[in-house]
Amino acid sequence: MDINKSLVIVGAQWGDEGKGKVIDYLAEQADLVSRFQGGDNAGHTVVYGANIFKLHHVPSGILNQGTLCLLGNGMVVNPLVLVRELTELEKRGIDTSNLRISSRAHLIMAYHQALDEANEKMLGENKIGTTGRGIGPTYADKALRRGIRAIEMTDPRRFRNKLAEVLPLQNRILQNVYGAKSFELDQLMELYTPVLERLGPIITDTALLLQRNLADGKRVLFEGAQGALLDIDHGTYPFVTSSSTVSAAAASGTGLGPGYVSRVLGILKAYTTRVGSGPFPSEDTGEAGQQLRERGNEFGTTTGRPRRCGWFDAVIAGYAARINGLTGLAVTKLDVLSGLDTVNMAVAYRCRGEEIREFPVSNEELQFCEPIYETFSGWDEDISRAKTMQDLPDAARTFVRAIEETVGVKVELVSVGPDRAQTIVIPGSRVAGWIGSKS
Ligand code: IMP
Repeated sequence: MDINKSLVIVGAQWGDEGKGKVIDYLAEQADLVSRFQGGDNAGHTVVYGANIFKLHHVPSGILNQGTLCLLGNGMVVNPLVLVRELTELEKRGIDTSNLRISSRAHLIMAYHQALDEANEKMLGENKIGTTGRGIGPTYADKALRRGIRAIEMTDPRRFRNKLAEVLPLQNRILQNVYGAKSFELDQLMELYTPVLERLGPIITDTALLLQRNLADGKRVLFEGAQGALLDIDHGTYPFVTSSSTVSAAAASGTGLGPGYVSRVLGILKAYTTRVGSGPFPSEDTGEAGQQLRERGNEFGTTTGRPRRCGWFDAVIAGYAARINGLTGLAVTKLDVLSGLDTVNMAVAYRCRGEEIREFPVSNEELQFCEPIYETFSGWDEDISRAKTMQDLPDAARTFVRAIEETVGVKVELVSVGPDRAQTIVIPGSRVAGWIGSKS
């Protein structure tokens, strides 16, 4: 096993760190790109020349023609949305024939979306603020052993039988618990039949495919979605997503042993954002947060919701580094900070009079935590054309070095704009090795 042939990319904040751009950039050197968790709650915006692609299921690697793209067994897949996404890509001249779906991935069905919406409505002001894509109910059904797996889509008769088996209970929950509308089997079959025809041929045992490719010496990129603080176990529960978003899930979510997922690049935005409810210690609800939102165009790719914005938080980043075993960092959107007089970084929290550097487990405890900020000088220069760290103003370089020191992991890549060309790779880093070593 050559661990240099695989690289896991994960979000190290609350999602939306700019993973799509970094993955698209690094996918040029990959033979395969595989997602391993989440579903169409993810939203990657990839800018390629004059083209802007918004992807939800499909790995960003699809834009590199020839790269095999996998939707792993740990994912939940909405077949209706996936077909729409593929059609849109094809309309814009992107070849999608290299996409494969794990036969073990679970399907997000129309009733899951209805359950997600109904549940959020019922929670009222305690709502999670989900993306409304049915992610939670689909993972819940998987755990309850009443989910429908992608393999059922390869045979319309089996798909119908499975749906007929699970639908009555789903309808009872929708009607009796939530007072919501139920679904008709025939109508659902009408909706799904064309989709089965389109997706059936690309459903396969992706774990086997991946294993064989790795054995052949192929290079694999594992594409994480969401971020460390949204992880079902390690995040700010219950304000989290329903899957394991950390690096270790790249093994179980694709069907590999852990040795293949030991090189992990954590993506960190140079500030912090969050969508949905839940704690966010370094949130700035004033002018600075507003400025970050506008300059960084911080509106959700999936829902269009304005993102909550705040300063870089080294406490959460350090926590993300620990739970992911990060071996490198990519700092994105550094250009968004240009023009600010000063830039803050939360380096610790003050919690009931005590200074802490480890992220607390309980949300109640977090309510008593105030970030302790270190303030850095800002910079006015436009850094969007910087190609090396030397091209950056001193203040920007100092800020990046401070991230590296407080988090305790080397920065390997800095992104200064959405385009592939706006990327600084640190010479001698593992990422530089990844870029330089495609056979
Ligand atoms: P769900 O994943 O739709 O169930 O939403 C649960 C929480 O995760 C909500 O706060 C969402 O806003 C958040 N979330 C889910 N996917 C993403 C993402 O891709 N980026 C940022 N936040 C996300």
